[in-house]
Amino acid sequence: MFVLENVIKRYSRRGKEVVAFRADHLEIAVGSYTAVVGPSGSGKTTLLSLLGGMLSPTDGRVLFDGASVYDLPISGRTRLRRTRIGFVFQTFNLVPYLSALENVQVPLSLAGKPAKVQRQRAGHLLQQVGLSDRVDHKPCELSTGQQQRVALARTLANDPEVILADEPTGNLDPESRATVLSFFDNLHRAGKTILMVTHDAVATIRASSRLSLRNGLLSPEEELQRAA
Ligand SMILES: Nc1ncnc2c1ncn2[C@@H]1O[C@H](COP(=O)(O)OP(=O)(O)OP(=O)(O)O)[C@@H](O)[C@H]1O
Ligand SMILES: [Mg+2]
Repeated sequence: MFVLENVIKRYSRRGKEVVAFRADHLEIAVGSYTAVVGPSGSGKTTLLSLLGGMLSPTDGRVLFDGASVYDLPISGRTRLRRTRIGFVFQTFNLVPYLSALENVQVPLSLAGKPAKVQRQRAGHLLQQVGLSDRVDHKPCELSTGQQQRVALARTLANDPEVILADEPTGNLDPESRATVLSFFDNLHRAGKTILMVTHDAVATIRASSRLSLRNGLLSPEEELQRAA
């Protein structure tokens, strides 16, 4: 599904170079469920952003089903993000003046779905993440964990093939975390490709593979496992 070829993402700030992520070759298979782990600043969000078509690499290519994502015209990349790839941001990125239901409707509206279909699907998704009693609340009227679940529901609205989730259980209590993780299990069983940044040991165990990052590099142990 994804292939990274000689990818490097480098930042330079005040004369100091940071290699945020680097991989000579990395493949993510269709239907795999990958836990992305590593300390703060190790390049996890950078990797997800590169895969999601949101951050162009300094060098190298990111292929999605054989097409070089950053050689696509911007409209093609936008279409990819809207229709095939879902992204759960570490910072949620909810629209502050819209209700939970309306936030989940946004991608459906962009995809041209009729208003009634939008409301039904958004309501169903919010119910699945345990928020059917909060549909009319605005983000500022929701707890952090509730906002996180609205963001997850929004990501799933267009039924993307790939779900890139940046610590989707980071702010949840054990019960909500279990709900969200079993939700991801179902998505995995339904054939979705999932990459999840997580510090959660339970989530790491449920995933089918693990990518461990340190200082922007995949850990040698992980390289060995994949070579074997
Ligand atoms: N816009 C930027 N300009 C300069 N450096 C950046 C920028 N964005 C990220 N970095 C650096 O790249 C490195 C990787 O950042 P990234 O956000 O991918 O880490 P992370 O593993 O997601 O961390 P966390 O667990 O804290 O979210 C960090 O050292 C960070 O300081
Ligand atoms: Mg991050």
